[in-house]
Amino acid sequence: MTQNPPAILPSRIAHAGLRQKIMSADAAAALIHHGDHVGMSGFTGAGYPKLVPQALARHIQQQHNAGHEFRIGLWTGASTAPELDGALAKVGGMDMRLPYQSDPTCRARINAGDMAYTDIHLSHVAQYVWFGFLGKLNVAVIEVAGILEDGRLIPATSVGNNKTWLDQADKVILEVNHGHPLALEGMHDIYYGTERPPHRKPIPMTDAGDRIGTPYLHCDPAKVIAVVETNLPDRDTRFAAPDEASRRIAGHLMDFFQNEVQQGRLPEDLLPLQSGVGNIANAVLESLNDGPFSGLQGYTEVLQDGMLALLKSGKMRMASSTAISLSAEVMKEFVENLDFYRERIVLRPQEISNHPEVIRRLGLIAMNGMIEADLYGNVNSTHVMGTRIMNGIGGSGDFARNAYLSIFMTPSTAKGGSISCIVPMVSHVDHTEHDVQIVVTEQGLADLRGLSPRQRSRLIIERCAHPDFRPALLDYVERSEANAKAGHAGMHTPHLLEEALSWHARYEQTGTMLPR
Ligand code: COA
Repeated sequence: MTQNPPAILPSRIAHAGLRQKIMSADAAAALIHHGDHVGMSGFTGAGYPKLVPQALARHIQQQHNAGHEFRIGLWTGASTAPELDGALAKVGGMDMRLPYQSDPTCRARINAGDMAYTDIHLSHVAQYVWFGFLGKLNVAVIEVAGILEDGRLIPATSVGNNKTWLDQADKVILEVNHGHPLALEGMHDIYYGTERPPHRKPIPMTDAGDRIGTPYLHCDPAKVIAVVETNLPDRDTRFAAPDEASRRIAGHLMDFFQNEVQQGRLPEDLLPLQSGVGNIANAVLESLNDGPFSGLQGYTEVLQDGMLALLKSGKMRMASSTAISLSAEVMKEFVENLDFYRERIVLRPQEISNHPEVIRRLGLIAMNGMIEADLYGNVNSTHVMGTRIMNGIGGSGDFARNAYLSIFMTPSTAKGGSISCIVPMVSHVDHTEHDVQIVVTEQGLADLRGLSPRQRSRLIIERCAHPDFRPALLDYVERSEANAKAGHAGMHTPHLLEEALSWHARYEQTGTMLPR
């Protein structure tokens, strides 16, 4: 990996013209108007603007109190934090949110029908905006670690869609966060080579660690309408200590990887790892730290505590991501050892971290959480009981469809055992049976590669379902097959259509999926 030498930065805001535009967050927020589409930085609680969104929420509340309508369309990289999604959702300040959120207030508003949400593959967002599928982007609000004399920007702890927001927005507000270490400079790799179809050139990456761009974001200083200074940390993304279920899921995966290596289907240092959000994903990474594999690489969209631990121990040699989302404790360790981590981490725009072409070329092992899987291997990652959004698809589709190995994991039950995460038919489909190769719960691992639907159903029940639900699942399969044999349905993927979603209906009516 080559590193650009860090530029000399006499102050955080070295550009003389942009220094003239420093103002309070309230003054900057007042430059955003009702109906604007606003592209903000932020990806999984990292690198989001800290003050302007809160000032905007206050401004919106004042407008509402005065009887004026005021709502914006909010676009980001992915999820943000209470100071952004939470603050704007609380005052009812958004009419459309995209492409991903995980905020409880925001979620409640979406599920109550008070605001709209469009849940988009994270790799698609930039292209949606370049071609105007979402309308015009009016304002970008971007957190940065510093501004160079010539106006180039040192990105903060996430890149996300910032390149696209800065290119496409009419007006730009910069939040310069003095809390981010300037030593982040040089860690980012912003690729400006993406082109419009047809005849796009290949993205020139053959290794997860390749640097193909520049460490800085470009922005026309004439578009900048405000610069706001802050000094606040990112969200403290805490992880629960791995519980028994997570440890067992991780254990099944370690056994599977070892067997794949023995069979010659994976190299000894595995393949670049993508790890989804949440506690289970983090627990799997922790297990890799105790496991037999070394020389690992990460090619993921969010770098969490578990992956940083792998870099620290030397088990992982490098990691590529679009965001660093750490607990406060691990963030301290990261900042204190930035020279070490700068050599080993590359932060890219999400259109590259999640790019199908690169994911396919590198041959990733994609490991993502899910809400439920069905007997045939279809996966629901986003909707509780088919209708209530949880978070969103995020990058899971980008990775699952294009990875070398596509793995989905969940405990076998939820809500104290009243819900089976293996169901006859998923209540919403994010990943079809064609994109799901391995399903893992604490009960075991089902390798679905090369199996027909009817072979899959038996294996998923036997390996992954909780024993409390196994008899009912088997009974469903047997009756579905008997019904199909009797000529009332197809034998390829047998179902009892009137019963397929009855487990979810039973839960809604009685509070449990367990048969009476
Ligand atoms: N039915 C209803 N609720 C369920 C459920 C099911 N089958 N399975 C899980 N849940 C609930 C849990 O009870 C929990 O609820 P709570 O917050 O009220 O306690 C919540 O969903 C989260 O479940 P948890 O077991 O803690 O899993 P997690 O933190 O690993 O998250 C997803 C699982 C699916 C929500 C999460 O992985 C996600 O949002 N995935 C989609 C995006 C993604 O994959 N991003 C990464 C791409 S790189």
